[in-house]
Amino acid sequence: MRSFLSVADASKPEIDRVLTRAKTIKSTVKRGRSLTRLNGKIIGLLFEKPSTRTRTSFEVASRRLGGESIYLSANELQLSRGEPVKDTARILGGYLDGIVARVFAHDTVAQLANYAGVPVVNALSDLEHPTQIISDLFTIQETKKTLKGLKLAYIGDGNNVCNSLLLGGAIEGMKISVGCPEGYEPSQTIQRQAEDKCRSSGGSIEIVHNPSEAALGADILYTDVWVSMGDESSKEKRMHDFEGYQINSDLLKVAKKDASVMHCLPAHRGLEITDDVIEGKQSIVWQQGENKLYGAAAVLEWLLIQS
Ligand code: CP
Ligand code: NVA
Repeated sequence: MRSFLSVADASKPEIDRVLTRAKTIKSTVKRGRSLTRLNGKIIGLLFEKPSTRTRTSFEVASRRLGGESIYLSANELQLSRGEPVKDTARILGGYLDGIVARVFAHDTVAQLANYAGVPVVNALSDLEHPTQIISDLFTIQETKKTLKGLKLAYIGDGNNVCNSLLLGGAIEGMKISVGCPEGYEPSQTIQRQAEDKCRSSGGSIEIVHNPSEAALGADILYTDVWVSMGDESSKEKRMHDFEGYQINSDLLKVAKKDASVMHCLPAHRGLEITDDVIEGKQSIVWQQGENKLYGAAAVLEWLLIQS
């Protein structure tokens, strides 16, 4: 029985198999053919935070694979009245074949995984967003035909998405350069884990405080919101601290000529990215968003079928 709480929970061969499967599922769905691998499986989606893409892609993925899903808003569960996570986990695990959970504290997905007795997928916690990175690696592979050796510059907040990108890039032998303001670096523990993975993959990670230095010669420029869900109380300070950490046409000129631009979305035009860049010809943001569906499907298959 496997859960996927961190990108580090998956080995390189496992990630590669999931990416290959995402590609096959995408072409099968595009040809209008049906898939049946999750026939009879019921997946619960327990969300403490809003979501457009992750929720919908996991719901659609469950159905495309022949299974079913149930959406469970945390504030409509007894969790909101203080029922412990471990009790909730044991009960839900008795009904469901898998749980996809979006939470504030990473410890919540860890507790769910410890007590549910069924696979748990982290659909975003304050520490990581591993399924985002699975579909992002798939999008990069589709676009650049490879992962190893590519330079990806992440500009902005060293948040959950950045943490998972560091791990995914390190496992796949990419060169990840993070350009963030001082005080907004990715998790130190994750940096150490990523460095360790780089030793076997040939990848590299660096954290710099100058966006142009990070973007120099990059194959991919990636950004995310300056204010993640749960960080709203520091919004004003963040608006000030992130000034200059924007993907715009000037920064794009520093990257490779054929660099692609990515954003996990939702985007704030005029803050972390400009309208002309997200709508421009180097943006692969919409392909990236669509691919969340195929990443979700491949992750569900990986965890639910072997268990
Ligand atoms: N990228 C992403 O996770 O989007 P949602 O918050 O809409 O799920
Ligand atoms: N870092 C963002 C990602 C949203 C998909 C957040 O946690 O809100």
